[in-house]
Amino acid sequence: MEIRVLGISASPRRGNSVFLLEQAERGVGEFPWSVRWTRYEFAGKRLSPCSSCHHCRAHGGACPIDDDFAELRRLWTAHDVILYCVAVYHVGIPAQLKAFFDRLGNSLSGYYGVPGARPLKVVGALSQGCHLFGGQELTISAILHHAVLLNCIPVAGDRPESYLGAPAWTGGDMGADALRGLLERGHPDAVTSVKAAAGVARRCIEIAALIKAGVETWAPYVRADAKMRPLLRDTEQPR
Ligand SMILES: Cc1cc2nc3c(=O)[nH]c(=O)nc-3n(C[C@H](O)[C@H](O)[C@H](O)COP(=O)(O)O)c2cc1C
Repeated sequence: MEIRVLGISASPRRGNSVFLLEQAERGVGEFPWSVRWTRYEFAGKRLSPCSSCHHCRAHGGACPIDDDFAELRRLWTAHDVILYCVAVYHVGIPAQLKAFFDRLGNSLSGYYGVPGARPLKVVGALSQGCHLFGGQELTISAILHHAVLLNCIPVAGDRPESYLGAPAWTGGDMGADALRGLLERGHPDAVTSVKAAAGVARRCIEIAALIKAGVETWAPYVRADAKMRPLLRDTEQPR
């Protein structure tokens, strides 16, 4: 069995978000099954907001806006774990991620061909901002709420480091390398955040493996339910 993890850095620049994502991948440990990571960065990508045309519902999920949405949706559907790492923007998710969430949610019913499909992606959330209480947990919460809306599985890491997901702060530094610097200096908050991030990733991979084993065991049951069939489709499609 192979678990495919899509790590999404939802910041418009190459900075602390992608660094924390890399740390999660490095610290995740060993498993008795194989794990394949794909990283996707919002940096350099264009993701426009939904225009409410509803074209996607009647056209297999295809969005007429010409930008990078289709590529990211293809990756999203082709992976078992979606691990978001997000820069806090005004106590919430950046607009680019919200644009992706809105369009993904609407296009999936067209893509899977059934309203209320259950893709059961396992979703973890890492978030970092420049201030200690800058809205990291609210940001994580928004991501996990969206996972629930899409019939996906929100997962936390291990306490005491992780309650909802993995929050981090950069010590008031807006620089792109701030978190790396804190970690290299052994700052205890950065050390804790990195441990939390790896714990979230590990738990996501474990839950995804249990779901995948269950889907394989109960394939006839899954196939008989139109809302569950996306699980098989995502497993079988070429990647
Ligand atoms: C538009 C904007 C809004 C921000 N709002 C917050 C905020 O509400 N709370 C916070 O802690 N940091 C905030 N920040 C700081 C970033 O979250 C922080 O610099 C983060 O490390 C950036 O991540 P990146 O290096 O992955 O881009 C904001 C930055 C920008 C550009």
